[in-house]
Amino acid sequence: MDRYRELFENNKKWVESKQEHDPDYFLRLAAGQSPDFLYIGCADSRVPANEIMGLEPGEVFVHRNVANLVVNTDLNVHSVIEYAVEHLGVKHVIVCGHYGCGGVAAAMTHKDLGLLNPWLREIRDVYRLHRKELDAIEDEVARGKRLVELNVQEQCIRVIKTAVVQKAYLRKGYPKVHGWVFDLHDGLLKDLEIPFDEILEKIREIYRLEV
Ligand code: CO
Repeated sequence: MDRYRELFENNKKWVESKQEHDPDYFLRLAAGQSPDFLYIGCADSRVPANEIMGLEPGEVFVHRNVANLVVNTDLNVHSVIEYAVEHLGVKHVIVCGHYGCGGVAAAMTHKDLGLLNPWLREIRDVYRLHRKELDAIEDEVARGKRLVELNVQEQCIRVIKTAVVQKAYLRKGYPKVHGWVFDLHDGLLKDLEIPFDEILEKIREIYRLEV
């Protein structure tokens, strides 16, 4: 069977299985959402956000792009953050990268990738910021893994820098921002334990907004 047609068959089976366990499932789904989590992850097909966290539809607000970037002028990601923090009131914002990320690997080469160049430059900027540490790692795979982690860390800082997160946190005590890495080899999530309060305090010296 054509794989494309299969999708609709799969969908019907999914609907049936949901209704079998819970006849009101779609009534509740249609009634609204109040997820506790915002997840910003890579678009990679091997990192299915809900599945790896064991969360059902309605439990996590998701934004994905190539290499889980939070670009300062990206209206897309910032609209997602604004909506999730201000309107949905999420308690946690998670930036999740993954080892073996094609975007990060491409940024470590010098290939001209057309429209992707400015996007990947964001990752090269992370490399430049942490050049001393990264250049000292001889093994290329290990260096790539560390860049994945540092990229997550830098994107977390970019989330914490936003006015909406600063304001919400000072007013309500949340959301907290977390950095994770997913390992394709064993399926496990690793919490990088980003020092949220420390970063917030530090970045407020420069990025603080008078409110
Ligand atoms: Co990736």
